[in-house]
Amino acid sequence: MTNRIPVIIDTDMGVDDAYSVMLALSSSQLKVLGITTSYGNVDAEAATLNAIKILELLEKRVRVAKGASGPLFGKMRKYSNSRGAFIHGKDGLGNKGYSLSEPVHIEVETDAVDYMAELIKKEDTKVTIVSLGPLTNIATLIISYPELRSRIDGIAMMGGSAYSGNTLPAGESNIVADPEAAQIVLQSGLRIVMCGLEATEKAYFIKDDLEMFRLIGGSVGRFYYDMTQDYMSAIEKLSGERKAVIHDSVPTAWLLNPSVLKARACHVEVDLNGQYTRACTVTDEICAEAKPNVMVAFELDRDLFVRMHIEAFKQYR
Ligand code: RIB
Ligand code: CA
Repeated sequence: MTNRIPVIIDTDMGVDDAYSVMLALSSSQLKVLGITTSYGNVDAEAATLNAIKILELLEKRVRVAKGASGPLFGKMRKYSNSRGAFIHGKDGLGNKGYSLSEPVHIEVETDAVDYMAELIKKEDTKVTIVSLGPLTNIATLIISYPELRSRIDGIAMMGGSAYSGNTLPAGESNIVADPEAAQIVLQSGLRIVMCGLEATEKAYFIKDDLEMFRLIGGSVGRFYYDMTQDYMSAIEKLSGERKAVIHDSVPTAWLLNPSVLKARACHVEVDLNGQYTRACTVTDEICAEAKPNVMVAFELDRDLFVRMHIEAFKQYR
């Protein structure tokens, strides 16, 4: 058996984050060392609680550490009545997290960034970070622990876009939450795969896919089916199409099978000063002005993406 890839998942634990965590934990290819949380879809406390609840549902013993509750600079976006609450539900889990039992599993006391550092130091091989939320924790890790750079194999991130936004006209939600942190990470020189909206908008489930998960996935499949209903309705209100776009499973799916994506080397900078384009991940596909710093995903094989989730849910039947 090949060596498992050690990963740390950094998440703001909304609906699509929960799919990504389930996909990662169902695979023998990945060794999930720990989960770190931050604000984003919900506040950091709720994200931490959601992560623990999902782990208990999946019956997996992975430790969770709470991290940033706001961006490196400036003000945090509000949560109630925000786009996050509208899409992910008030609890971040499609308003269905309330039905899960109160967790007995306890979060670790260490702050997320220190916990990441501890996990990276302990591991014999280089660690991959899977980033599913604002990049605040990861940027802080890079700044606070420069000596650990060589111990990080790379970052597989959901965030950004080459051509458009979803929270602002030119800004994707995880970058809008903390543009400065995103810029620190993207310019860090670490190996980065940026799964932006061009690829992740193609990573969707339709009603039949969810029915399949419910049929084959036991109580886990049933919970995920229920959790995704309000999420689909919110997306339908915004886009006119009834589908569940599962952005955050894309970096995890790529780690499990890179052929799920087509990515190209580009130079990406985060616009920090634009009056209308702050948080835009300005993507130079021809690298006219600078060398490539990021692999940017543009295409996704949806059939393979769905099949990977079916295989994952089968483990819970
Ligand atoms: O833009 C999609 C991203 O924003 C995902 O990480 C999702 O969970 C939301 O936070
Ligand atoms: Ca997320």
